[in-house]
Amino acid sequence: MIKKITIDQLMPGMFVHQILEQKGTLTVKSQGKVTSTDVVNALKKRGVKTLAIDTDKSFDVSEYLPSASSDSAENKPSEKTLPAIKTVSLEKELTRASKLHQQGKDIQKLLLASVQKETPFDTSIPKAFSNKLVESVDRNPDALLCLTKIREKDDYLLEHSLNVAILLANFGKYLGMSEEEVQDLSYAGFLHDLGKIKIPDEILHKPGRLTESEMEVMKGHVKHGVDYLESMDIAAPLVRAISEHHERLDGLGYPAGKKGDAISKAGRMLAIADMYDALTADRVYKPGMSSQKAFSILMSDAPSRLDKALVQQFIMCLGVYPVGSLVLLSNERLAMVLEQKDSPLTPVVKVFYSVRNSHYLTPRDIDLSVDKTVNIVKAVIASDYKIDVNGFFERSVSIG
Ligand SMILES: [Fe+2]
Repeated sequence: MIKKITIDQLMPGMFVHQILEQKGTLTVKSQGKVTSTDVVNALKKRGVKTLAIDTDKSFDVSEYLPSASSDSAENKPSEKTLPAIKTVSLEKELTRASKLHQQGKDIQKLLLASVQKETPFDTSIPKAFSNKLVESVDRNPDALLCLTKIREKDDYLLEHSLNVAILLANFGKYLGMSEEEVQDLSYAGFLHDLGKIKIPDEILHKPGRLTESEMEVMKGHVKHGVDYLESMDIAAPLVRAISEHHERLDGLGYPAGKKGDAISKAGRMLAIADMYDALTADRVYKPGMSSQKAFSILMSDAPSRLDKALVQQFIMCLGVYPVGSLVLLSNERLAMVLEQKDSPLTPVVKVFYSVRNSHYLTPRDIDLSVDKTVNIVKAVIASDYKIDVNGFFERSVSIG
């Protein structure tokens, strides 16, 4: 498919079919695959403004972006979106965020135990915790986002809801929601899967596909959670969003089979963050997929099942290479994305592993928007290289 994009949307991996608009008269070779950010920069320098790309020959990242010719408001990112202002350095915030992350897992454990025993819990604790998460995201969103990528394989149930809360705090802020709305959204994320504790372990942790009858049992987690939360002091719109996190726009979700507009915006956002975290999570029986693969799955579920405009905004919020994810650089080294700057293709990264020599390097930060000698080749996952990211993170990133 031929699609019109602006030069700012052009990325390595895309196949340029034709230059559509450019300043000046300098002719530019108009067809071919963009192999690096250098090519993008060269085209910018030559005044190229819009181009047609061939999505069949391109790496599928192009699908994530709204088309330049689209005037439809729903396809455009919110005009209210503003780049996050970081008031605290990543290094400083990571110390606080690490404690908060551990605290989140501890609170989640207590909540699950209360749901299992059907005893009430003091809602002021998770509520205050969610507010602290949002405060950390306000100070520097990269710290908690980094931590969402550091997983203990046996802690999925605890980490998943915490990660969804962190993702939603970022997503809500990106969409320009008010502080209170962001807090509520993050709180809903933190509580969304509590009903899972009522699902027998052999179904909950089953590697591979569930049978039809097992799936029916699994689907019950939404009702278990909602029934419990309704008996507690939780605001109705939050419970509603939680009840909708497996509903899909085509009506084929569960438990109610709600369709289209019947699903609240918060419910749609929760569905996207939930799915993204589940796809990228390392499990005991399988490694998590790369963010890019997860993005393409989310996009393939839009617009029939997921809200397309929200999926696009979610991807733009996290960036093409999300903070905490691993990338292969053109000098055959692996790096972790640490910070998103102006351009989604040139984040600040920490280089720590040589693929050529299969050994760890003394970690070094590189701002790819400044150092033009290297660029990102692709997103990768740790298991492809059998490296221990958690160990690297603890040694080199978390407490500097
Ligand atoms: Fe769920």
